[in-house]
Amino acid sequence: MGKYQIAVIVGSLRRDSFNRKLANALAKLAPSEFSFKQVQIGDLPLYNQDDDAQQAASVLRLKNDLKAAQGFLFVTAEYNRSIPGVLKNAIDHASRPYGQSAWTGKPAGVLGVSVGATGTALAQQHLRNVLAYLDVPVLGQPEAFIQATEGLFDAAGNIGTDSKKFLQSWMDQYLAWVKKHIA
Ligand SMILES: Cc1cc2nc3c(=O)[nH]c(=O)nc-3n(C[C@H](O)[C@H](O)[C@H](O)COP(=O)(O)O)c2cc1C
Repeated sequence: MGKYQIAVIVGSLRRDSFNRKLANALAKLAPSEFSFKQVQIGDLPLYNQDDDAQQAASVLRLKNDLKAAQGFLFVTAEYNRSIPGVLKNAIDHASRPYGQSAWTGKPAGVLGVSVGATGTALAQQHLRNVLAYLDVPVLGQPEAFIQATEGLFDAAGNIGTDSKKFLQSWMDQYLAWVKKHIA
């Protein structure tokens, strides 16, 4: 296990999700001092404030995974020009009970891939808004709006040649952002 743990939150439950593939491929671009764990959000109940006093086991598991991490990496789909409900549900769960948020103060990176040409830009902007409220410092630049085109991934699931340089640079700057906030 690396010195730095990153909790990866994928905003799609789809079996063949491009965003999950992207998250897997990005993890391979990091040096071994970083470990990446995709947190499970698909089995969380729908958030209900009545349950704050007795959060479900799946919610406590999510919060523990987030607390164990030094940074967050959000890789999200865009649904109807915003973040998928499943991602917002997870964010809301881990933000509660009031005063016991698992998000506060930890550095994050946000990116995503969609079939549309805008490459999740609007979803990312909405996500940045939510994370600002939760006191999560998000890497501002570079932004990464990725369209799922032929060749984005190679046969082994790595980032394809055309996008490799850009995404390696994005990762390098994201990891430096995480380290800066830990220091
Ligand atoms: C309910 C729904 C809404 C969508 N809305 C958008 C959208 O606003 N913008 C966009 O670029 N793609 C949109 N798409 C297409 C997604 O980009 C595409 O399904 C993509 O594969 C989702 O990411 P995933 O592969 O990680 O699941 C939408 C798809 C669904 C199912």
